[in-house]
Amino acid sequence: MNSIKREKIIGLIGQNIQGSLSPQIHNYLASVMGLKYHYFLFDIEPFELKKAIEAIKIMDIKGVNVTIPYKSEAVKYLDEVDERVKKIGAVNTIVNENGKLVGYNTDVDGFDEMSYSKGITFKDKKVVLFGAGGAARAVLYYLKDQNVDQLYLINRTLNKAETVKKDFNKVIDNINIIEWTSEKKEQVVKDSDIIINATPLGMENEYQDISPVKSESINEEQVLIDLVYKPRVTKFLSFGQKKKAKIVSGIEMLVYQAVGSFELWTNQEVEYHVIDELIKNL
Ligand SMILES: NC(=O)c1ccc[n+]([C@@H]2O[C@H](COP(=O)([O-])OP(=O)(O)OC[C@H]3O[C@@H](n4cnc5c(N)ncnc54)[C@H](OP(=O)(O)O)[C@@H]3O)[C@@H](O)[C@H]2O)c1
Repeated sequence: MNSIKREKIIGLIGQNIQGSLSPQIHNYLASVMGLKYHYFLFDIEPFELKKAIEAIKIMDIKGVNVTIPYKSEAVKYLDEVDERVKKIGAVNTIVNENGKLVGYNTDVDGFDEMSYSKGITFKDKKVVLFGAGGAARAVLYYLKDQNVDQLYLINRTLNKAETVKKDFNKVIDNINIIEWTSEKKEQVVKDSDIIINATPLGMENEYQDISPVKSESINEEQVLIDLVYKPRVTKFLSFGQKKKAKIVSGIEMLVYQAVGSFELWTNQEVEYHVIDELIKNL
């Protein structure tokens, strides 16, 4: 067996991540591009997070992705973070830059590239965003430059939505909070152009049969974007499919955010045809 150089070790820190598609994505990119990187899963308990991040430096490995539930907490154990991470408050990529751990957020790139590749534009659109966690914040970071007409933020926990609105107030002045249980909710969805799910609702197993919206609120003019990627067609997207609306699975964003991380670790650009092939084969 070829030996693996430790500076070519990359991976994922998270909890209950056995089903992650990231090893498949990154090991595919490494092999197609002839780079000898290897991606491993590091399933850790919350009390181990600080030590696990220190270990990146001690063992001199190249870096890791960070996923649920550590994206926010990981920020405080890094030497440096970029502007996006400061604004979003969540990191999904750590790079060991000659002994200095630097945090990035490529979920923003993932959403950006996915929107571009699908021809989705947000200018002058009414956009509904479900969720107020790290993923929703990454979406908002992207949307701040898109001149949306109105943005409706709907989250189960109201005060979390209020905090997000406050944090983004200076860069997005048209965020409207709608309460999760409000009677207005379905009407707002009905009147919107683009609906984004940035909650785990619809995810296989526990949430599989749940959608953040009702089927009656969806019409064929709308665009439905789900950040959930397993299954490819969630309950929410199935409503759009039935109404012949445009639907986009989270798999696109997943691949593009992975490409962003891979490029940070390797300093190599991934070509579009490789990305297309990857999305088709996952
Ligand atoms: N495709 C991709 O590349 C990609 C990238 C990032 C994330 N994601 C997906 O996006 C989803 C959110 O991730 P995250 O990082 O933002 O997680 P997070 O920071 O933990 O936030 C979770 C959000 O979902 C809401 N939520 C959780 N359980 C809910 C329930 N039972 N009913 C209603 N709302 C619920 C939470 O609301 P409360 O505030 O009320 O708790 C919160 O707003 C996950 O499914 C993740 O896999 C996909």
